[in-house]
Amino acid sequence: MTVTDLPEGVEPSPLMRLLIGRNEPDLRTERGVECPGDLPSPSDPDLVERARAAKAALGDQVFVLGHHYQRDEVIQFADVTGDSFKLAQQAAARPESHYVVFCGVHFMAESADILTAAHQQVVLPDLAAGCSMADMAAASQVEDCWDALVDADVADGVVPVSYMNSSADIKAFTGRHGGTICTSSNAKASLEWAFGKGEKVLFLPDQHLGRNTAVLQLGMSTDDCVLWDPHKPQGGLTTQQLRDARMILWRGHCSVHGRFSLDSVHEVRERIPGVNVLVHPECKHEVVTAADHVGSTEVIIQTLEAAPAGSAWALGTELNLVKRLAARHTDKQVVFLDRTVCFCSTMNRIDLPHLVWSLESLVEGRVVNRIRVDDDTAHWAKVALEQMLALPSSKARKD
Ligand code: 13P
Ligand code: SF4
Repeated sequence: MTVTDLPEGVEPSPLMRLLIGRNEPDLRTERGVECPGDLPSPSDPDLVERARAAKAALGDQVFVLGHHYQRDEVIQFADVTGDSFKLAQQAAARPESHYVVFCGVHFMAESADILTAAHQQVVLPDLAAGCSMADMAAASQVEDCWDALVDADVADGVVPVSYMNSSADIKAFTGRHGGTICTSSNAKASLEWAFGKGEKVLFLPDQHLGRNTAVLQLGMSTDDCVLWDPHKPQGGLTTQQLRDARMILWRGHCSVHGRFSLDSVHEVRERIPGVNVLVHPECKHEVVTAADHVGSTEVIIQTLEAAPAGSAWALGTELNLVKRLAARHTDKQVVFLDRTVCFCSTMNRIDLPHLVWSLESLVEGRVVNRIRVDDDTAHWAKVALEQMLALPSSKARKD
């Protein structure tokens, strides 16, 4: 049996998908799909020249956005580089460009489609560039959670705050329930806004960003937070726990930032005396509390820029960015916090062959790997995204 053999109207659960397989692209999930085209060979010595020529031929027709975690071979072709907040802000900055080529992951391209004008088409060079964290919150699971909050008689006071790293469906859920999207650079302002509106926050899907922000920036205790496990009845929580909690954290995490451990902090301090440990807030709470500094991708970049020559830094974030910062700041010692190398495998899916293929296809008049969010989902997701863009800290941020 395959997914397409299921009776009409029956939605396969994530477990069913795993057991029975999937024989067609499923763009409603963050799951990867095969590249449908003829990719240039990675060993083609003309790839850089081909990308340059295709971009030049397209001129203002194309706008290329690149997340800081992208490979160097790709980021060199970005018109704008940034963290997920800046890229969301920038997505709509070039209405004259018919094509927005998003070098990042699927949820970012969805947000770009939601925020751009109707005549603009968003392309993700490799559809397999998903995000394992975004996959940890499926729309049906989140609806079940909300139903349980209604049954526990707490839903009226709950404001959803969803991390940018979530599917368009989750963003739409957030908009429908009067919540906001946040990124790692405005999580504090988002929570302050949400607590000005309700008594509790349902934070999706990154438990670590939610806990770190609530405890370290809003002064809550870890006891104010409970963890909703979507694989357990009523999230594995009692009704009383739901009533007492201020932060209901979804059990999701980033597989890249989640691998930094307390041991890696201790080990680097022994190896490099005087080292400054700077980590992303997607890291575990124990890692963040043991670090010297915590900050979003943009804060990490700015901190390194302001650091004095001769200082040493161990960075707990994605390796492409760490390598780029080490190459840029040769007057400082910049190392990866963990001894074992770890890129974000899905960010890394966007490579030069995929970029060349998508740009050359556009030159030939073919839009490949278009990311399109349906109108109703896009409407409600936009409500939540615009709420984020209207936060005072978002307006103040200049890049
Ligand atoms: P930011 O770009 O918001 O720092 O997010 C980090 C990340 O994990 C992106 O996938
Ligand atoms: Fe997702 Fe983590 Fe990769 Fe970002 S770094 S895309 S959160 S898996």
